[in-house]
Amino acid sequence: MEILIKPWNEAKAGAFLVRQEVFIHEQRVPAELELDELDSLATHALAYIDGSCIGTGRLVDLGNGRAQIGRMAVLAPFRNQGVGKQILEKLITLAQSQGANSIVLHSRVLAIPFYEKLGFQAQGSIYDEAGIPHRNMILLLSNLI
Ligand SMILES: CC(C)(COP(=O)(O)OP(=O)(O)OC[C@H]1O[C@@H](n2cnc3c(N)ncnc32)[C@H](O)[C@@H]1OP(=O)(O)O)[C@@H](O)C(=O)NCCC(=O)NCCS
Repeated sequence: MEILIKPWNEAKAGAFLVRQEVFIHEQRVPAELELDELDSLATHALAYIDGSCIGTGRLVDLGNGRAQIGRMAVLAPFRNQGVGKQILEKLITLAQSQGANSIVLHSRVLAIPFYEKLGFQAQGSIYDEAGIPHRNMILLLSNLI
């Protein structure tokens, strides 16, 4: 497996296939919410096996030393094999290299333990996003040094 970092115009084809399968088909997120204006501003990490994209995630620079990770998805047959962890690690390293001090994300409540394993901490209360319970999480990069 390899993980490549790409801008949206190069990531779109592979990332959208994975996101369509995971978010629209599996999690029933409305199709019109899946792609958004942040995709073209974000940097995307894509996991490939034998030339096929099987996982993805994106990093958005929010300015003032803050970054946001989102759209983390791994195709179901490839889960629990460390793919998501490698994508998340790549995005954290990328955020550090871009000078971010903190990374925020909106986690599905069920995915909180996945992000906690790499140091993210849940904050605040649970809210609805695209019909799914979510909670904000934050990673202070200064804590990793
Ligand atoms: C969340 C997701 C990206 C994780 O990807 P993955 O490739 O299965 O995760 P990994 O195999 O790299 O897991 C890394 C660690 O987190 C743990 N983990 C992963 N998902 C977990 C979950 N839902 N609950 C608890 N622990 C979890 C793994 O057991 C593993 O632990 P270990 O390092 O002690 O062995 C994947 O499950 C997915 O695509 N889910 C559907 C889409 C989704 O909900 N995305 C998140 C939106 S916020």
